[in-house]
Amino acid sequence: MIAEAVSPVATAACSGLAASPKTLPPWLFYDEPGSQLFEQITQLPEYYLTRTERSLFARHANDILTHLASPVTVLELGAGTATKTGILLQAAARLQPSVLYQPIDVSPSALEDARENLQASIPEVTVQPQVANYITEAIRVERARETKVLALYIGSSIGNFAPQEASAILRKLRAQLEPGDALLLGADLAPGPNKSVAQLLAAYDDAAGVTAAFDRNILARLNRELGANFDLAGFTHQARWNPAESRIEMHLVSGSRQTVTIAETVTGAPLDIHFAEDETIHTENSYKFTPERLAALLASADFAVAQTFTDPAELFAVTLAAAVES
Ligand code: AVJ
Repeated sequence: MIAEAVSPVATAACSGLAASPKTLPPWLFYDEPGSQLFEQITQLPEYYLTRTERSLFARHANDILTHLASPVTVLELGAGTATKTGILLQAAARLQPSVLYQPIDVSPSALEDARENLQASIPEVTVQPQVANYITEAIRVERARETKVLALYIGSSIGNFAPQEASAILRKLRAQLEPGDALLLGADLAPGPNKSVAQLLAAYDDAAGVTAAFDRNILARLNRELGANFDLAGFTHQARWNPAESRIEMHLVSGSRQTVTIAETVTGAPLDIHFAEDETIHTENSYKFTPERLAALLASADFAVAQTFTDPAELFAVTLAAAVES
């Protein structure tokens, strides 16, 4: 008999829930229902990140594009359906006759949506998608002749990674670029004079409960895909601000002492997971940056800050950085 390959979901769930403290990796959020819930999050009044970044693109697209002073090839890590990227590609299409756009994402269907939407709305753009996990797999950069590459890493996706991992992601990208190419990095900012911890917490624990549903969907996914028996009502969503690490943490708090069984596991045998009352599963870190931390992170990967764009309340930063000699 040929053993069935163990799914990445089973591997992640078994190792994360057997550990202490219990954790689950945030990529587990993004199955079909989870991706829809995230889309709803981006439209919530409390979740200022997406709309603030979009307004920064709308306002500064031309400055961003003209900075490189030559035609560009646009590359995007974790592009998804590339809804915000259209603003930048529009600006590029006004400055050069054709634009090669290379979105990289794990989801083929998201990339197909991106291709259809962008090629229909901006005829100058050629979309060349790459299905890849930019964390675990190699990325290729295809450069149209005589262009500079503008790499996009937006949406504060970098915030999901601890400083060492974030630096490694940027270094891997830098290895595919030449000096003179550029990176546009979107990152959510740490609390400051105009940004309270309360505002930050509300963005991760909205009044309508969409973020709570998004967090709990991770348990629903384990029930669906691994035959687990999580009682969703037995876990409460909690957002915490961790000032020492400058990050928002999302946790699922067990309301009672309880045992959950996962049927499909790495070993093939069912796995019992015991929870104490108030014990949590840590499901996400979302790091928040100061401009200084961003500059240091970029420097660690041989990028030098060229320009920082931020909104008046200093909620969010879009940083344009040049690839420099390593
Ligand atoms: C997609 C990682 C940028 O951290 O703000 C939104 C995910 N989690 N609400 C973020 C998320 C809860 C989001 N990122």
